[in-house]
Amino acid sequence: MARILLSGGTVVNATGAAPADVLVDGETIAALLAPGSDLVDPATCDRVVDATDKLVVPGGVDAHTHMELPVGDLAASDTFETGTTAAVWGGTTTIIDFANQYVGDTVPGCIDEWHGKAEGNCVIDYGFHLAVGDVNEETLKHLERVVDEGITSYKLFMAYPGRLYSDDAQILRTMQVASRTGAMTMMHAENGIAIDVLAAQAVEKGLVDPVQHGLTRPKALEAEATFRAIKLAEVARSPLYIVHLSADAALDQIVEARDRGAPVFAETCPQYLYLSLEEHLSRPGAEGAAYVCSPPLRSRDDGNHDNLWRGLRTDDLSVVATDHCPFCLEDQKAPALGDFRRIPNGLGSVEHRLDLLHQGVVTGEIGLPRWVELCSTTPARLFGLYPRKGVIAPGADADLVVYDPSARQTLGAATHHMNLDHSAYEGVEVTGRVETVLSRGSVVLDERRFTGRAGHGCFLRRGLAELLR
Ligand code: URP
Ligand code: ZN
Ligand code: ZN
Repeated sequence: MARILLSGGTVVNATGAAPADVLVDGETIAALLAPGSDLVDPATCDRVVDATDKLVVPGGVDAHTHMELPVGDLAASDTFETGTTAAVWGGTTTIIDFANQYVGDTVPGCIDEWHGKAEGNCVIDYGFHLAVGDVNEETLKHLERVVDEGITSYKLFMAYPGRLYSDDAQILRTMQVASRTGAMTMMHAENGIAIDVLAAQAVEKGLVDPVQHGLTRPKALEAEATFRAIKLAEVARSPLYIVHLSADAALDQIVEARDRGAPVFAETCPQYLYLSLEEHLSRPGAEGAAYVCSPPLRSRDDGNHDNLWRGLRTDDLSVVATDHCPFCLEDQKAPALGDFRRIPNGLGSVEHRLDLLHQGVVTGEIGLPRWVELCSTTPARLFGLYPRKGVIAPGADADLVVYDPSARQTLGAATHHMNLDHSAYEGVEVTGRVETVLSRGSVVLDERRFTGRAGHGCFLRRGLAELLR
């Protein structure tokens, strides 16, 4: 078991930042030491990592990924191996992926299928949420049990009628199960029934370009679904986590609920902070198709993006996850041009979350501890991984990132490691770069040389959420 000393860096936790050395012994953190402490003789360590002028932060926890997600005849283009490799390059050391139950699938069958995809293939640790697409009596019985297998969160869909959609009765019944088991209900909050009407009307008028995907999913329909989900959770007495919140009008609903003390949480994603309907989704043809995701990118003009940043500061938005769901442009997105409804939904960014959010530190939108809290500590706490993950403290897993806050890099398809033929952030310049990454004490990125291996990552049996209020 290797002893590794990370010396000379500034350790950043959600609670603050301070100069400290970190001693790793085997898979866990053994001690935090005052800088230059003589309590540990570097000669007794197998390796000393020089973190001078660098930050040492807990490995990122990306609570929302879709590796190999089947969508119709297609599958998201990152496998568990390529996706977790890319995650390492971006400083993420834990992913929570969605095991998707479609109509007709049993819950145990779907969980077995996801274990089959991930086991032996992940470079970093991983857990599963269950995405429930067929709420029926049998499903509800299985949901009572999956918590014992370490799957402690269920995602439901108010969008995608005929595919993954649940009606209010199905939602309420699932939330009632969650209330008994302690699981977290996660919600894709968009009114899919109304959206389908608007989308069909657009196509009837010959409006088929990618931008129509955004124009037919107005903010009001995200806000309405968010409100309804909050009320249903209140009736069921279950906590609620809204995934991929994009609209400030939906954020208003979260603020109202949290101000009442309701156990309601929300996540946003880098795409909703940095990309927009006008600048990206409105591009012609395949270029616009690259940016089709649900909920859609929003207009910047009315202050939506600034309002999301405000939500990150006020903790009304608790988590930043990627919703990493990559589809290649040439083979997967472009063939569906001609009807925006057929373009596979999703963007790939598992590699860029920490760097992109670090720009918020650079511009003063958030501080360093908040960066760590949003990208690592709070997702670990809400999804039953804390204090094993999400913190640099004795006893925690040695999932550590040495981050150079002043390095400059340009993002793009030629240099990223995701299995994706384009980048939503092509040419974007960022300040900050991941240098070295440890996953449970193993160096998986060594001064920007990949040293990880598929199979190192273990399935995480998660506990219940630590509700933060
Ligand atoms: O466009 C998206 N978000 N694709 C992934 C599936 C989902 O709804 O999260
Ligand atoms: Zn979703
Ligand atoms: Zn998703």
